[in-house]
Amino acid sequence: MRPSRALITGASSGIGECFARRLAAGGADVVLVARRADRLEALADDLRTLGVSVEVLAADLQREPGRCEVAERLTATEAPVDVLVNNAGFGTSGTFADLPVDRELEMVELNVVAVVQLTSAALGAMAAAGGGAIVNVASLAAFQPLAKSATYAASKAFVLSFTEAVAHESRGSGVWLQALCPGFTRTEFHDVNDFNASRLPGFVWQSAEQVVDTSLAALGSSKVVVVPGLVNRLAATSATLAPRGLVRRVASVAVRR
Ligand SMILES: NC(=O)c1ccc[n+]([C@@H]2O[C@H](COP(=O)([O-])OP(=O)(O)OC[C@H]3O[C@@H](n4cnc5c(N)ncnc54)[C@H](OP(=O)(O)O)[C@@H]3O)[C@@H](O)[C@H]2O)c1
Repeated sequence: MRPSRALITGASSGIGECFARRLAAGGADVVLVARRADRLEALADDLRTLGVSVEVLAADLQREPGRCEVAERLTATEAPVDVLVNNAGFGTSGTFADLPVDRELEMVELNVVAVVQLTSAALGAMAAAGGGAIVNVASLAAFQPLAKSATYAASKAFVLSFTEAVAHESRGSGVWLQALCPGFTRTEFHDVNDFNASRLPGFVWQSAEQVVDTSLAALGSSKVVVVPGLVNRLAATSATLAPRGLVRRVASVAVRR
């Protein structure tokens, strides 16, 4: 697929910024969404030098007004969007009983509600326009429950299951859906999440570029679940095949806080 205009949420850093850079370098116009407008404007200035058109849409997707604003952009018939990357997300670390529930609920609003609302908006618009693609960024955390990141892993399991089901329903519509499931990726995510990732071995890490290139290579193909990197694919397969109790124990040790 050759994207003509992509809307990327969480474009102010990490994987989302990399999606924006790669898509713009491939000639696509981009719509950049996140809360930090200054970062989006700086990225936009950079990307315009590539000769593409760039829109900045500063919006808080944890909240209904921000989600509605972005959904409206996705359904606009002028300068239609043919690729949506639902990437904005965050995690928390700690025992669920000790974590402030307001932050857990904000995570659900962003990681789950925004994905459902924006997928719905884009799906109808893209089908009416004859096609498109939606990448929903899940995680390796989607394949098993994660103690000390209970809500985060559950939110990503939702994204994976939801995307697979809607992809199946959308066969023949011209709209392709992908659930992108990265493992540990070097971005600001682990600072926001307050997760000390320094003890993890180097081989588990990928760059945002490796993750995004794997996703874009599969865009518009029949591949619905994309797990970048061999180590991550082995982990996802083991989590799917092994007994659930064992998976819970191994996962809690592997990402021990
Ligand atoms: N890094 C990893 O190891 C890893 C692994 C698996 C999956 N993922 C997933 O990959 C996605 C991108 O994460 P990342 O690693 O690139 O982390 P990141 O560098 O922290 O980027 C997160 C992005 O989400 C945006 N965002 C956060 N809250 C938002 C809100 N309320 N409204 C709008 N935008 C918001 C942030 O922008 P503002 O703060 O400017 O709003 C930022 O652009 C997430 O869904 C994450 O769960 C990451």
